[in-house]
Amino acid sequence: MNILLISGSPRKNGNTNALLEELTAGILEAGKHSVKTVDVTRMKIAPCLGCDGCKRGEKICVQKDDSRLLMNEMRQADYIVFATPVYWWGMTAQLKLAIDRLYADSSVLKGKPIGLIVTGADALDSPQYRLIREQFQCMADYVGFTLAFSKSISAGKPGEVHSQPDLLREIRDLGKSL
Ligand SMILES: Cc1cc2nc3c(=O)[nH]c(=O)nc-3n(C[C@H](O)[C@H](O)[C@H](O)COP(=O)(O)O)c2cc1C
Repeated sequence: MNILLISGSPRKNGNTNALLEELTAGILEAGKHSVKTVDVTRMKIAPCLGCDGCKRGEKICVQKDDSRLLMNEMRQADYIVFATPVYWWGMTAQLKLAIDRLYADSSVLKGKPIGLIVTGADALDSPQYRLIREQFQCMADYVGFTLAFSKSISAGKPGEVHSQPDLLREIRDLGKSL
């Protein structure tokens, strides 16, 4: 199985990317699947124009940017994990832009198991984690993919997850179990 991890965090030494490294380590340790990470915050992805150009003829966006690259990666993946920090009770703008562009062809997600990792500074009883999970569940119901797992993490400072060894172990075990 090809597993694709999509990072929505622009922080170089941030929590999301540390968690994805741990997940990758678990996947590689199990040795059953290939894994690749793409960082949407380093890609040039313009906002959807809502022009419906993709609904006429080919399912391709009129805008030629890195969204095509990302969608090709997603097309080739059997399992996709989205990972995002919480920004103002939602996912980051960079990840949202990338997801908006799937309007051109959401079949890149269809029928696939999709995982979600959300990291915010607030405690886990903050509504933000539920809001983001429900947003992805709505997408899953609409597009036809399975929300295979949804993990919420409370960590605010850059790299704070490194001081939570139990959490890192849990994420590594999650990687092994995929
Ligand atoms: C623009 C911005 C908005 C944020 N909004 C929230 C928020 O609504 N709730 C929250 O708990 N944390 C919020 N945070 C804190 C981040 O979610 C937190 O620092 C997280 O660890 C960042 O993840 P990263 O290190 O993977 O980038 C915000 C941070 C930024 C920069």
